[in-house]
Amino acid sequence: METEVVKIEEDKIDQSVMKRAGEILKAGGLVAFPTETVYGLGGDALNKESSRKIYAAKGRPSDNPLIVHIAGMEDLDAITKEVPEAAYRLAKAFWPGPLTMILKKSEKVPLETTGGLETVAVRMPVHKTALALIRAAGGYIAAPSANISGKPSPTLAKYVTEDMNGRIEMIIDGGAVGIGLESTIVDLTEDTPTILRPGYITMQMLQDVLGNVEMDRAIIQADSKLKPKAPGMKYRHYAPNGDLTIIAGDKDKVVKRINELASAMQAKGERVGIIGTEETVSLYHGDSVKNAGNREQEETIARSLFQILREFDDEKITVIYSESFDESGIGQAIMNRLLKAAGHHVENV
Ligand code: TXA
Ligand code: MG
Repeated sequence: METEVVKIEEDKIDQSVMKRAGEILKAGGLVAFPTETVYGLGGDALNKESSRKIYAAKGRPSDNPLIVHIAGMEDLDAITKEVPEAAYRLAKAFWPGPLTMILKKSEKVPLETTGGLETVAVRMPVHKTALALIRAAGGYIAAPSANISGKPSPTLAKYVTEDMNGRIEMIIDGGAVGIGLESTIVDLTEDTPTILRPGYITMQMLQDVLGNVEMDRAIIQADSKLKPKAPGMKYRHYAPNGDLTIIAGDKDKVVKRINELASAMQAKGERVGIIGTEETVSLYHGDSVKNAGNREQEETIARSLFQILREFDDEKITVIYSESFDESGIGQAIMNRLLKAAGHHVENV
C-alpha cells in the first residue's frame, strides 16, 4: 500500500485534506494524525474491521484495547452507559485535553475496539487537527499511539513514517507534538477513581476535582508481579534498541558513575548514549550525549524523552545511561515511561 504524507498546520487546517482523510476512515482505512500528546494511528472506532487493521499495522496483541477519541460531549452517550457523575466533572475540568477515562461501553462499540472488554477508554483531544479529523470521520476514532508495538510513541511525523510507511493509507504531518507523553488514563468503573497510566494530568490535578483518587498499585510497585489494569501497561514498552539503565542518586555521584560506566562500555566496543539535563550535559562523555531538558521545567523533559530514545536507535547506540527524575507532577509520568524503557533496570549510587 502507498502511504500518502500530508502536511497540515494546526492554525490553517486545509478542509479538503480533512474531508479526504475522513473518507478514508469512513471506508475502513487508517490515518495517522497529531494530537497534543503523541501521534495516533486512527481507524473508525465503530468498525471492527478497522480495529483489526490497527492491531495488524502496529503488530499489537489484540487483547490490548484502543482509546476512542471524540470531538464533543454530545458524542459520549452513544458509546458509553451508566456514566458516573465524576466523569462529567473530569470532562468539564480537563476535556478537551490529555485525559482518557475508562467507562462502561455501550453496544455500539465493537469488542474488537476494546480488546474484548466491556469497558471503553474515551478521550477528547485538544489538538485542532485531531478534532477536525474526528468530526470528518463521523465522530469516533480509535487511536493507539502510531508506533510499532513496543517502540517509543512517535512525537514527530517522521517517526510515524518510519514505523507505518506502506501499512496505512495516510499520515497527517502536524509537526512536533506539545506534551510528548501519552494521556493520563483514569478508570471510573470502580468505586474509587484509579489512575492506570500517569500523564500530564497529574494525581494532584485529579484529586483537586474528585477528592479521593488512587494509583493502580502495579504502576507504583516497579517490578512487582501485580498485573496492571490497563492491559497495555503489562507489555514491554518504549524500548530503544540499546540496553538502557537508569542511574539514580546525588548529581555529582551520578555524573561520575555514568562516565565510569560509559568508558568501560566504550572500551568493550559498545556505542554509548547518555541522557543528561541542561545542568549536566557538558560533564558527560559518550558517543551521543543528549540534553533531555530543564529539571526546573519537567515538561521540557517529557517533550524530549521519546525523541531521544528514537535518535539513539538512528545513531546505532547499543548501551544507554540515563539520569533519574523527580517523581512529582509530570515527573511521575516521565519515570513511568523511562522505567519501562529500561525494563526497570536502576542502579542507585
Ligand atoms: O495520548 C494518548 O492516549 C495517545 C493518543 C494517540 O491519544 N494514545 C495512546 O493509546 O496512548 P495506546 O493504545 O498506545 O494506549 C492506550 C492504553 C493501553 O495501555 C491500553 O491497555 C489502555 O490504554 N486501555 C484502553 N482501553 C482500556 C480499557 N477499557 N481498560 C483498561 N485500559 C485500557
Ligand atoms: Mg502506545
